[in-house]
Amino acid sequence: MDLEVLNGLLRPKSIAVIGASNKKGKIGYTVVENLIESQYQGAVYPINPREAEVQGFKSYPSVLDVPGDIDAAVMVVPAKFSVQVTEECGQKGVKGLIIIASGFSEVGRKDLEEQVVKTAHRYGMRVLGPNIVGILSNSDDCNASFAPFLPLPGKAALVSQSGALLIAMDASTYTRRVGFDKLVSIGNMSDVNFADMVEWLGQDETTACISLYIEGLKDGRRFMKNALNTSKPIIALKSGVSAHGAAAAASHTGSLAGAGQIYDAAFEQAGVVRASDLNNLFDRTLALSLQPPMRGDNMLVITNGGGVGVLATDAAERFGVPLRFAPEEVQTELKKHMPEFGSAKNPVDLTGMAGRDWYQHSVQYAFAHNWVNGLVVLYCETAMTDPMDIAQGIEEAVRLSGITDKPITVSFVGGEKSDTAMRWLVEHGIPAYDGPDIAVNAMAALREYARNKELANMEGPRFSDVDEEAARAIIAKARENGCCNLTEIESKKVFKTYGLPVARTEMATSEDEAVRLAEEIGYPIVMKIMSPDILHKSDAGGVKVNVKTSAEVHEFYREILKNAQAYKADARIQGVAIQEMAPWATEVIIGSVNDPTFGPSVMFGLGGIFVEILKDVTFRVAPVSPDQAFKMLEDIKAGAILAGARGEAPKDRQALAEVLSRYSQMITDLGDEIAETDANPVLVYEEGEGAIVVDARIILKEHRA
Ligand code: ACO
Repeated sequence: MDLEVLNGLLRPKSIAVIGASNKKGKIGYTVVENLIESQYQGAVYPINPREAEVQGFKSYPSVLDVPGDIDAAVMVVPAKFSVQVTEECGQKGVKGLIIIASGFSEVGRKDLEEQVVKTAHRYGMRVLGPNIVGILSNSDDCNASFAPFLPLPGKAALVSQSGALLIAMDASTYTRRVGFDKLVSIGNMSDVNFADMVEWLGQDETTACISLYIEGLKDGRRFMKNALNTSKPIIALKSGVSAHGAAAAASHTGSLAGAGQIYDAAFEQAGVVRASDLNNLFDRTLALSLQPPMRGDNMLVITNGGGVGVLATDAAERFGVPLRFAPEEVQTELKKHMPEFGSAKNPVDLTGMAGRDWYQHSVQYAFAHNWVNGLVVLYCETAMTDPMDIAQGIEEAVRLSGITDKPITVSFVGGEKSDTAMRWLVEHGIPAYDGPDIAVNAMAALREYARNKELANMEGPRFSDVDEEAARAIIAKARENGCCNLTEIESKKVFKTYGLPVARTEMATSEDEAVRLAEEIGYPIVMKIMSPDILHKSDAGGVKVNVKTSAEVHEFYREILKNAQAYKADARIQGVAIQEMAPWATEVIIGSVNDPTFGPSVMFGLGGIFVEILKDVTFRVAPVSPDQAFKMLEDIKAGAILAGARGEAPKDRQALAEVLSRYSQMITDLGDEIAETDANPVLVYEEGEGAIVVDARIILKEHRA
């Protein structure tokens, strides 16, 4: 990252407005007006060939005529002038361009956009946009945009791919009382993208929390890496469904890799917290910008009303932070500040009689107690209490506890007085919401952040007993034969080079050879058609299982060839595979896709109806360490089956996790060659007995990357 250049672009000390105007109603007018109204302290240089002065500033025909240095140039001239203007900016030594103008790749003029970026890079400039609203920064008193005003001051930064949404969110920071220091419109991302913004905001001292509205990432891996490297919370609202359409998929795994599943995985792996919608983005941003992460699973709820307590309990389960009963000693202490009919379990119900003192005592004690990792305080407005009094009691309790490394969220349900009290709480650093479920969701975000950060570790330990060269040689040979799909035997050979346990499988090209191999492997065996043109062997009548005698081998050999010909007359038949018949066990599926945004990504699920009907699968961007792979086994809904549900013996999850991890290393190393893969089924035996890949499929990229 070129810090000096990006600082110039995003925290400019001097700004030229190219296309600055004296005509009210034009964007070139509004940008200059906004710089004045936001009391920008740096130099402002309007550029307009026809004006001597713009809104009180001396105007220049070109940036080349400006006497001083220019950090950022805001471009509000039509797109057709952009290349020439960029050239002039380059000659002038401008650091970055903020291109508000539309009319680029969003309307098919990618060429123009590329030309601008190429020209800018020639001079070492960076480009924000085009097709953006601009940038806004409270700490720099800088509204270099056509959004109406600076947002409510706060500690978060918002980066938005949608300009209209950024403008709308700017205004609603005031109604929602969520403060931002910066708003950055990122538009077409011709140059500066989310990965750059995360990296830059990660070191920006005026940003405590990074909020993102994402339609699509350009460089998924770099985004993940930069997100992992930042010590600030990142929260993302991702709209739209992954372009990796199921329709185009050739493998089973490919057909399951839709609907943003890989985005979900990538965000979790990179420690990024998700937002489900716009409200949620604001609510979670408020919590993450004001409070530390929740570093444990124990969330305590304190309330004066049973109803909101139950709502919070339900929400806790829904958002992945289920409540546990507080330990005896905590309950005993809390009981001292409630009537006989209160409850000290969790939620802690102080009852409707609770006033400031009870709240204050309970909050101060609970917040300081080691068992409590996060505290949610609920209050229903009553005629006997003043919301502001309760709010002040809560704030004082937090302050007096001396605890600064665990989070608190609050919800007041009531009228105007409650609203005022919640504003006061937010102003004093305590996130407060008008619904108990929202306060719990905000706490869940703080837990998610801590948990994701703990798990986030993109580079899993590498297995050294792999033979990448041998794998590549098998692939090269298949390509020589003009194949994009490896046969099962070739696929298994590749799998073996990565130490994956595969069922022994040999190719027979005659009936006699089939019998000889069957006898060598040992009955019973499985027979399968081998053809690069037949992917779905069972559909083609090309599979026979539990073959027990040489007579059956003869008979089925002929039958399989006949069926294959009937299925696809011009199919190239390589022979019939003779395969060891592994004893049946729990069936799972492992697979991979090469995602357009994140690259090689591995999938895991249970076989049969779990994958076919319930689509109960989980993805991770590869590679994954054995520990991360183990977490994948627990992530699926049917994960309990592997752990040994309903009296069944636990399955060998350690072995399976190693298989998944090796698999993820294979698809990563060979990511330039491999498009999709399936290992389906993989059979998993009881603990200590391992797992075995029964069927394998590798689909190569059409052209090597
Ligand atoms: N250097 C300096 N000034 C110039 C140059 C030049 N090379 N060429 C023209 N100018 C001046 C013009 O003379 C004019 O000044 P004037 O107002 O004194 O006459 C001014 O620059 C603007 O030029 P116009 O040709 O009048 O362009 P206009 O203001 O109509 O539009 C704009 C320019 C705003 C960039 C337009 O082309 C555009 O792209 N609009 C869309 C912007 C947008 O929506 N961005 C996306 C935001 S995201 C969202 O959806 C909200």
